[in-house]
Amino acid sequence: MQTSQRLQLFRESVIRDMTRLALEHNAINLSQGFPDFDTPAPVKEAAVHAIQNGLNQYAITWGYPPLREKLAELYSQRLGWEVHPDKHVTITCGVSEGIITAVQSILNPGDELLILEPAHDNFRPAAYIANAVPVAVPLEAPDYRLEISKLQAAITPKTKAMLLNTPHNPTGRVFDDEEIAGVIDLVLENDLVLITDEIYDRILYDGRIHQSPGSLEPLKERTITIGGLGKTFAMTGWRLGYVIAPERFAQGIRTLHDFTTICAATPLQAAAVAALAMPDSFFEQMTHDYHQRRSLMMQILTEAGFQARSPQGAYYIMADYSQLPIPQASLPPTEFAYFMASDVGVAVVPGDSFYSLAGYGRSTIRFAFPKKLATLEEAGERLLARLR
Ligand SMILES: Cc1ncc(COP(=O)(O)O)c(C=O)c1O
Repeated sequence: MQTSQRLQLFRESVIRDMTRLALEHNAINLSQGFPDFDTPAPVKEAAVHAIQNGLNQYAITWGYPPLREKLAELYSQRLGWEVHPDKHVTITCGVSEGIITAVQSILNPGDELLILEPAHDNFRPAAYIANAVPVAVPLEAPDYRLEISKLQAAITPKTKAMLLNTPHNPTGRVFDDEEIAGVIDLVLENDLVLITDEIYDRILYDGRIHQSPGSLEPLKERTITIGGLGKTFAMTGWRLGYVIAPERFAQGIRTLHDFTTICAATPLQAAAVAALAMPDSFFEQMTHDYHQRRSLMMQILTEAGFQARSPQGAYYIMADYSQLPIPQASLPPTEFAYFMASDVGVAVVPGDSFYSLAGYGRSTIRFAFPKKLATLEEAGERLLARLR
């Protein structure tokens, strides 16, 4: 009795492994990307209210109607086409399910999916689950710029789609107009579908404004836009994501979603309407708080002797540890991450785990900083005490 061949192709998530390691060593968990501060009170109250008022059965499979209506309103503005709640919006159990169903809805066995690496560790499995082939194209440290010539070189007659995450985990890049213009040409010239993961659309620095690639005229008809609520509203455990797609894609995505999870949790979908209706002041405060966290984390890392670039979006920093004045500075990333959790008391993710490409991510670890300032300060004390 054997498990399926596709399971030979990927293993359990390294990121979630690191969270377990953090618990084992009582380390401060700067590995997995989730906040240690709580969901906004009005959103929690809306969930309790929904549960107490009978919203406890299956929702319509593709989403609780008021949530789809709210998203249709928001995304009609953002994408510049009329997003219809009944035709174009599907609520999923997290962005992860959105990506898996989008990829499955587009790719046939053997088709190729372009993925920029470093990449979130759910991306390659999404291709494998569809019996498709992930094709990795590197972003080179320390700038992590998207190089169109490298993407072009990876195209074959089997290339069907590209998966693009911006703002980007783990590099903190927000791809600029020039890079996105290159993606437009590539997608059009090769008749590809663009699948975007925009889960960090609200976490941006230095006045940046998020532009969904699917809002750009040539991409409107061929982009599947995926977003989620977990990161923005500090509720990663609620498992809420959504897919906005032109009708020809939305139909298949709904069918796959229906037979995978039936629906996302109904009372939490109801509370998500309250989350999306939070006032501007909430988002302004959040942006302010993330700037503080970013600057504290950069200050700590620089002082501790890491080499790192300040992120443009999202809440991660890729840091090079090769210049630290300790013998462990020559360890490979996984061993270094174990040393960090067990001896320093700060859990991180090995940088090479974001690559399938050999030789990348060397001497690099990822720090996640969606944490209270006090948590980051304590992590800073441990780093400064043990690494210098
Ligand atoms: C880029 C990216 N996409 C998707 C996910 C997973 O999102 P969700 O928790 O909504 O499934 C994450 C989580 O860290 C992520 O960083």
